[in-house]
Amino acid sequence: MSIGFDYTNMMASVLGPERGISEAELEGLRPRAEAIHRDLLVRREEGFLPFYELPFDKGPVDAVLTLAGELCRQFENVVVLGIGGSALGTLALFRALCPLHHNFLPRKERGGGLRLFVLDNVDPVGVSETLDLLAPAETVFLVISKSGSTVETMSQFSIALDWVSRSVGTSFRDHFVLVTDPVSGALRKLAADEGYRSCSIPEGVGGRFSLFTPVGLLPLALAGVDIRALLAGAASMAERVTLENFRENPAYLNAALQYLAYGKGLRISVMMPYSDRLRDLADWFRQLWAESLGKKVDLQGNLVHVGPTPVKALGTTDQHSQVQLYMEGPFDKVVTFLSPDDYGCDLAIPSLAGASGLAYLEGHTLAELIRCEQQATAVTLTQNGRANCTLSLPAVTPESVGALIYMLEIQTLFAGGLFGVNPLDQPGVEEGKDFTYALMGRPGYEEKKEEFSRAFQR
Ligand code: PA5
Repeated sequence: MSIGFDYTNMMASVLGPERGISEAELEGLRPRAEAIHRDLLVRREEGFLPFYELPFDKGPVDAVLTLAGELCRQFENVVVLGIGGSALGTLALFRALCPLHHNFLPRKERGGGLRLFVLDNVDPVGVSETLDLLAPAETVFLVISKSGSTVETMSQFSIALDWVSRSVGTSFRDHFVLVTDPVSGALRKLAADEGYRSCSIPEGVGGRFSLFTPVGLLPLALAGVDIRALLAGAASMAERVTLENFRENPAYLNAALQYLAYGKGLRISVMMPYSDRLRDLADWFRQLWAESLGKKVDLQGNLVHVGPTPVKALGTTDQHSQVQLYMEGPFDKVVTFLSPDDYGCDLAIPSLAGASGLAYLEGHTLAELIRCEQQATAVTLTQNGRANCTLSLPAVTPESVGALIYMLEIQTLFAGGLFGVNPLDQPGVEEGKDFTYALMGRPGYEEKKEEFSRAFQR
């Protein structure tokens, strides 16, 4: 499944030397690129980067499909309780691979899939209005948390448990599947002690790299997505994104270009799909790029405060919102377009009787229009000296999206090497979590609570 990558409009030959990237700058990265590649190979061989193997691991997929088959026979709705890496991939692929109005369609038109809801916030309005829509007897909850302790997910779990129990009584356990660490954490213990159904997130696979585990595969299979095709797409990309020569490896090359652009002051990285289906993929990537690369210290422990700021935009909608800024505002952005070659359907634009000056539209189609608008934005950005590149997919299918996701994950890992940071941790997120635990009265966080009170008084 081939993902196209056109980075002409990132280069100095087009943008000039101040903001464009020269061949010499790219080649200058070669020794580091080779060293990072070797390091990734070694760490992969030693088993420290298990997410690389996920597209090839057939066992968990068979287990997920068996469980999904059972749940599909029992329920009408599935609700994901999870946040961050435990939710964003599912949201992105639900949007990309299911009909846009999936939850409103009759079951037959959903390919037999369940209605899917993802609760990735603790706003009481969102939670209560979602529950109000659903019948407890027809609903299964996937409680997804790698750590098994994230306060948002655990709070939602308690509320859902109470809501289901009040309606179905002692069979409430059948309405929950816990997706968590294989051995540790409160959810794993609960699964063992109370007999909940459960799935494991393989050890060493962190939240935002876990889409190809039951974290994403189970909810997507329940919604009717062909998860084997998704994984086959990822696997089909494996050879290209592990090539040693970084100029031939699209994941490494894009990381290198983004890194060099960052060094020229282009510190904001906009992902702009020209596709409603790919809209939330930019949201998934926003987390992947931000949490992986935004770091205070480098691998040697030096204070560095690095990281590009990812932004999501949507074409053509944001041409009428953001693009003015991208064209004429500060020179601080790289725009990455996501572009399907084939939209899968099209609408002809008929003539508009009586409207003068609009006859030129007649005979064209919406797919043509959206494509022209993307090209027009790319050219105008370039003429204004703004770096941009395009990742293209033959069509929005499980195979192509699987390939793109796998590529972006490896791009992020490689970018971690270039920025000299650990892309797999998130100490800043953990700090915030600790204060929340303290404020909510979790035992063991008393000192943290005092620290908060002192900070609040200042
Ligand atoms: O990528 C990550 O590790 C995080 O975004 C986590 O997914 C997020 O904090 C939720 O954590 P957990 O899955 O442990 O509930």
